[in-house]
Amino acid sequence: SVPIFTTVASYREWRRKAFDERKSVGFVATMGALHDGHLSLVRRSLEANDLTVLSIFVNPAQFAPHEDLATYPRTLPRDLELLCAQSVSLDVDSSGRNERVFRTPSAVFLPSVSEMYPAGISQDVSEQKGTFIEVKGYGHQLEGRTRPTFFRGVATIVTKLFNAIEPTRTYFGQKDIQQALLLRRMVRDLLLSHPSPESLHIVPTVRDAVTSLALSSRNAYLTQRERELAAPTLYSALQAGREAWAAGRSKDECIRAACALIAQTTERLNLGSTEKVDVRVDYIEMNDPESFDVLSQTINRAEWEAVEEGQARPVILSGAMWVGRTRLIDNIILGDQ
Ligand code: PAJ
Repeated sequence: SVPIFTTVASYREWRRKAFDERKSVGFVATMGALHDGHLSLVRRSLEANDLTVLSIFVNPAQFAPHEDLATYPRTLPRDLELLCAQSVSLDVDSSGRNERVFRTPSAVFLPSVSEMYPAGISQDVSEQKGTFIEVKGYGHQLEGRTRPTFFRGVATIVTKLFNAIEPTRTYFGQKDIQQALLLRRMVRDLLLSHPSPESLHIVPTVRDAVTSLALSSRNAYLTQRERELAAPTLYSALQAGREAWAAGRSKDECIRAACALIAQTTERLNLGSTEKVDVRVDYIEMNDPESFDVLSQTINRAEWEAVEEGQARPVILSGAMWVGRTRLIDNIILGDQ
């Protein structure tokens, strides 16, 4: 079993000891309902840090009033079981001696809402009071367009978590690429030292081995048919966009190719089936990984890369799609080898 801290004060006592003993602390922030995506972040942390802390907190401020805060999956006993089963065994060089060490997660931070928001928190922005963090330029497009208060909620809670946990290194998933890049920018802008901007690591997306569907806690909302047949089309659509981009098509054409693939697959699925699936694209978009600016409609790969004198210049191709009442997101990075 692993120690569970429910207050910042009790965690800080534990953290002070780690500082005294010069032990590095890796941190993984989650909202629970753990799956192999979360656990891959944990394993990365175990490999690189003496100690690893995972937080589980379903953050009200990042859910709009009409969103799924009440029904968000909460599976604490199973989460703790999965977490405790994680371990790594590796060779480390400790003061000139090669030593084999075995590491498992060191602590869980499981705060209440009042611990993280002592003055209370409303999901309705117009009723909120107190301090909130806004990262300009990174949070209004894509996810932020559909969910205008989402990144404000994320940036605020993650700042609080960083202040409480004081991680040496921290790990976020590429699955939520806009979130990860926005947080890296925030860490830089706010001159944070725990973590430093260089020690915020982005870990590749873990996918279902059979369908390539990106793992997500919200996949639990999907019916079997939605999960196995409809949801995976988002990733296939991104692949279609990748091919179009590689073939020199414009951004606009790449996005249309991706959307067409979703429309065709859904139509085929529903043909003659009594159990119809309801699929709606929210957005497919391409962004600059540095600035997160949306690419212009007509730009193609040659023009994009010309700015870097023919060097491979990566681009993020991401999408969000509704399958029934479940909203899924995914992304791939083009030209990044
Ligand atoms: P949550 O959705 O629980 O995700 C926690 C972390 O796991 C995030 O960094 C996310 O990108 C990563 N993750 C999720 N699915 C993944 C997958 N299939 N492969 C790799 N990594 C994956 O993201 C949040 O929680 C919250 O917004 C949070 C940062 C905790 C703030 O409340």
